[in-house]
Amino acid sequence: MTSPIRTERRDNVLVVISDNPPVNALGQAVRAGLKDAIEKALSDEAVEAVVIRCDGRTFFAGADITEFGKPPVGPNLPETLDAMEASDKPVVAAIHGTALGGGCEVALACHYRVAVPSAKLGLPEVKLGLIPGAAGTQRLPRLVGAEAALPLVVGGNPISAKKAQGIGLVDEIVGEDSLEADAIAFAKSKIGQPVPRASEGTANEDGVRDPDLFDRFRASQARKIRGFDAPNAAIEAVKAAGTMSYAEGVKKERELFTELMSGTQSAAMRHYFFAERAANKIDDVPRDTPLIPIRKVGVIGAGTMGGGISMNFLSAGIPVTILEMNQDALDRGTGTMRKNYENTAKKGRMTADQVEQAMGLLTPTLSYDELADCDLVIEAVYESIDVKKEVFGKLDKVVKQGAILASNTSYLDMNEIAAATQRPGYVLGMHFFSPANIMKLLEVVRGEKTRDDVLATVMKLSKTIGKVAAVSGVCPGFIGNRMLSKRQEQANALIMEGANYWEVDEVLLDFGFPMGPFQMGDLAGIDIGWHRDPSKVATVREALCAVGRFGQKAGKGYYDYDEARQRTPSNEVKQIIADFAAKEGKEHREISKDEIRERLLYPMVNEGAKILEEGMAQRASDIDVVWINGYGWPLYTGGPMFWAQTIGLDTVVEGLGKHGLPVSNYLRERAADSGKFD
Ligand code: 3HC
Repeated sequence: MTSPIRTERRDNVLVVISDNPPVNALGQAVRAGLKDAIEKALSDEAVEAVVIRCDGRTFFAGADITEFGKPPVGPNLPETLDAMEASDKPVVAAIHGTALGGGCEVALACHYRVAVPSAKLGLPEVKLGLIPGAAGTQRLPRLVGAEAALPLVVGGNPISAKKAQGIGLVDEIVGEDSLEADAIAFAKSKIGQPVPRASEGTANEDGVRDPDLFDRFRASQARKIRGFDAPNAAIEAVKAAGTMSYAEGVKKERELFTELMSGTQSAAMRHYFFAERAANKIDDVPRDTPLIPIRKVGVIGAGTMGGGISMNFLSAGIPVTILEMNQDALDRGTGTMRKNYENTAKKGRMTADQVEQAMGLLTPTLSYDELADCDLVIEAVYESIDVKKEVFGKLDKVVKQGAILASNTSYLDMNEIAAATQRPGYVLGMHFFSPANIMKLLEVVRGEKTRDDVLATVMKLSKTIGKVAAVSGVCPGFIGNRMLSKRQEQANALIMEGANYWEVDEVLLDFGFPMGPFQMGDLAGIDIGWHRDPSKVATVREALCAVGRFGQKAGKGYYDYDEARQRTPSNEVKQIIADFAAKEGKEHREISKDEIRERLLYPMVNEGAKILEEGMAQRASDIDVVWINGYGWPLYTGGPMFWAQTIGLDTVVEGLGKHGLPVSNYLRERAADSGKFD
């Protein structure tokens, strides 16, 4: 087998080149090739400096994740990098694309780093439930200081070449189109000088002078890292860089890395990494399906949803025509969009120019005719099948042939909506989640007649606008809301049987959700879909609405809210629930946290199994993608279906039986068979 690493001599500089598509992951062959190349450079007297660069779209994007969990085959990355750093001849990393994880660690082991302006550098291991494992946590703080290293190692987000230069991670920014030549010139300029080694750096002393730095940083990240093991280990490792010798620090890093690697969180997060990528692929749609160019988008409805949806496209530089019924609603909607952008700018995440650029791509209109030349129109109007059918009938008449018509419905029958047009092949669901400009998930609903090119186009488009997409078949509530309804059913039943509603919320908070079902009700508004007749009270929700407890916006819903939106349980609500339970003849009993958790979550897994059995989701991991990105299911458990496998499908089956809840045949079969869904 030919090695992915080749070398080319340019005068007295040896250029070491990796060609391991798609992302130059540091698999065994790459590591072996790198180590050989360094040995070759060291033993060849004619070579006085080394440049390491990659072919293709990126510098090394990290260790090869597919090798994780398999028996290791040498050489390992740390020893390869140690050999590199030990060289007395200057070694220069020439970076383009994304130098991530192990790739960033390669760069750190080099004596110098040059990068093109578009390059990014980062240590995203925490996103896989890990910390850097090839001395990244020890070399980086010694090179740039603990304070600058912490956000990189703990947050995992990459930084631009310019920022990297600002903290001392990159030595020189070179020409976008002349990386190799500039790197060679740079390397030549360093020949004969003593080489700087990151492992010998002293910048980490900032953490010794100010040891509180680490606790302050931990506190500032508390909300983001709640429940995750890796960020705390990452802080510990960076701290060790200041309190231990380099060799001891590396040992500490290895211990922490190994512990995380064998834990369930990392397994779950690695599962998610591949799940997210798999979800964008549709098994029966060829990868080379020609796409429909999307140059202009129409959005119907300038409410919260329509506005948020539009912002996704504007931010990606795609012009949007937004339609409303009357001028007031149109002005209100576009005003809110501008305000949202301006708030983002105030937080420093956008420049004032970018705000104007985005808003400049927006055309507000009251006329359907202005949607005629859109390539894609997304409808975000009132959730009623009749209203939607009318809108699609109209759209079909005015919008050019070949354009895609999408509905943002969250549970209606997409096939029926498509049938209101003469082009059902061009119709599908694009279910965004509120706030649509922020939430990552896009549930793409494939109708019976949706064409392959339409589906493939929307999946590709989802990436352009920064969404994570998963495909659902047509069924009430699709994947996400269909499973949510099972959880809500149990939440409602539990409070009738004696569980306090705040306990139900707490169980989900403890599990790792950002909020529980009753908090979610308060946030969304209890009065959604309410008939507005206080004298007609058939449910707890209606009883709350009847006394004006509409949720957070009214200062009271299930909970009472103070000015800072802090919630406290309400006696009034407790009484309403108790009265209801008494009326229905339900006896209150003590309900344990375990029972609450099992009854909330197991029926979701069961519904997920039914969704798979009916072919409404392509794979179990797609369901995980939906729940992690759309509903706050904790990433570190891998999503409902992966989590169920972790605790054992037989445990779920048994638990459902114990609580008298239905068990689908498919779940039973999977539990009895492999214990796995896919
Ligand atoms: N190992 C194995 N495969 C990888 C990989 C990796 N590190 N990174 C990406 N891939 C694969 C993807 O699974 C995908 O495969 P597919 O086409 O079969 O689905 C393919 O490469 C292309 O990836 P993307 O679709 O994600 O391509 P993008 O262009 O959108 O993104 C990227 C490129 C920014 C490099 C992104 O892939 C990424 O973030 N990769 C992971 C980076 C990472 O986490 N690195 C750290 C690894 S852990 C580590 O290094 C430990 C060390 O400290 C010892």
